[in-house]
Amino acid sequence: MINFKDEIADKIKKAISIEDDIKNLIENPPNKDMGDYAFPCFSLAKTLRKSPMIIANEIKDNIDLSGDLIEKVDVQGGYLNFFVNKKILINEVLKELDEKKENFGSSNIGNGKNIIVEYSSPNIAKPFHIGHLRTTVIGSALYNIYKFLGYNVTGINHLGDYGTQFGKMIEGYKRWGNEYDLNDNPIDKLMDIYVRINNLCKEDENVLEICRDNFKKLEEGDEYCTKIWNKFKDLSLKEFQRIYDLLGVKFDSFTGEAFYADKVDDVCKILEGKGIVQESEGAKIIDLEDKGLGVCMIRKANGSSIYATRDLATIRYRAKTYDFDKCLYVVAYEQNQYFKQIFEIAKYLDIPEKCVKGLKHISYGMTRLSTGKMSTREGTVVKVDELLNEAIDRVNKIIKEKNPDMENREEEAKKIGIGAVIFNNLCTTLVKDQIFDWDIMLNFNGETGPYIQYIYVRTKSVIEKAGRNVPEFSEIDINNLTDKASLNIIELLYNFSDVLVSVSEKNETCILTRYLLDLAKAYSNFYNENKIITDDEGITKARLYLSYVTGIVLKTGSKLLGIEMPDKM
Ligand code: ARG
Repeated sequence: MINFKDEIADKIKKAISIEDDIKNLIENPPNKDMGDYAFPCFSLAKTLRKSPMIIANEIKDNIDLSGDLIEKVDVQGGYLNFFVNKKILINEVLKELDEKKENFGSSNIGNGKNIIVEYSSPNIAKPFHIGHLRTTVIGSALYNIYKFLGYNVTGINHLGDYGTQFGKMIEGYKRWGNEYDLNDNPIDKLMDIYVRINNLCKEDENVLEICRDNFKKLEEGDEYCTKIWNKFKDLSLKEFQRIYDLLGVKFDSFTGEAFYADKVDDVCKILEGKGIVQESEGAKIIDLEDKGLGVCMIRKANGSSIYATRDLATIRYRAKTYDFDKCLYVVAYEQNQYFKQIFEIAKYLDIPEKCVKGLKHISYGMTRLSTGKMSTREGTVVKVDELLNEAIDRVNKIIKEKNPDMENREEEAKKIGIGAVIFNNLCTTLVKDQIFDWDIMLNFNGETGPYIQYIYVRTKSVIEKAGRNVPEFSEIDINNLTDKASLNIIELLYNFSDVLVSVSEKNETCILTRYLLDLAKAYSNFYNENKIITDDEGITKARLYLSYVTGIVLKTGSKLLGIEMPDKM
């Protein structure tokens, strides 16, 4: 597809014979009446020692507009406003869509660069909570988008499967395991066992000692302890998998913290070799006060490793194994300071500079109910699988009322309910808290996942109702799509790949959710303004075709976010 920004930048450079980076200065004006692209001359004023207005006029006078790509250039203040040739634009977009179909928007911009996205990472034998839902959904969307842009992506679920608490859990299980049926709701039961043993440890120092010993045994690979620990892990993973299946989320690797336990000694040695480790009451610490980052402990007084050291070992391992250019950690804001510490210490790990630079914490805010903090009536944590099923049930009820004869209702309700939850997780700037409100997120006419699905279904039903097949691109006369409402859609379609690149640059999924809403609204507007089936066969075909391609992009964009499209709604 012709890149209009590139072309305009080229023309500007030639007009005033400069080699500056022009492309990145080109803007999209807020109002289309002002042009499709605008070039502010202010930054050139310094180098050229002329007023922006004079520069703008000079460019206008000298610019070569042959080739028809640009219809008109206007000077307004210190700006040059460019109006592109709409027919070329339409043709470019439709031709590209015809060639690439659901791959429209994909590119090789990633050039095979290695990217790790770490997401979800729940703790075994503990509930999968609402915060884990958010990282799962955000991480999975970023994973899909990077892949679509030609990066070599690895998705890792860094399970929290290690820590001294497992010494306690093993002891509890040994004592009371047979009282529980762990095939049903295992995580609740394991939590129960944990609470019991923890209380006992508080009362009886001897029990605590046994628990510590269990953990030591686990570290040394003791057969019994390892077996029990594996059981906890299997049971938990099975529970988590139910959620991943509902969400349609996948991982390339489930290597969790335990995998790195035997790799922390090397890390400690390296860091000590750099002379940055200090002793403090028997523990080993790194003082980062001068960077305003407090103190980070890397080994406890009793010699066991901790979360931070395992993370440092993970970084080394990933640098070696994946030679990553970027390693994204999708983890809640509570760990902001923690990741700053880890990334600071990573500078001393003897890994390539590019890996150190590529470490990035994708922080996200809390999930809140519109009425306050998120918890159930009993004050316990919200269970994510129950929540997802509630979404499906609610949609099922809505459809039953609106469209009682709908085929495959259960299946479609699943796509819509899950889609609504996913969209709601992705549509606010990540650092902001996410508001959880059923009425808002399930509103078929709101700024929601279901709204986008609804418009998508309309792009399809329009064609079905006309009783026709989708026309061929070769049958379309571009002149029938130059009205404002159609052009608005075409311009959005043209921007799709830029939007995806923007998501990858900023790691902000809301750029794509916003885009999809804009596209859906543009279609809705087109549908209201234009009769699609008319007496004019050429116009009818063009409008049906535009419906069809809009549907493709709504579907592709949603799929990248992890949202499936229903056939009916
Ligand atoms: N398991 C942790 C939790 O549930 C998140 C792990 C984040 N990733 C990491 N590499 N530290 O809070």
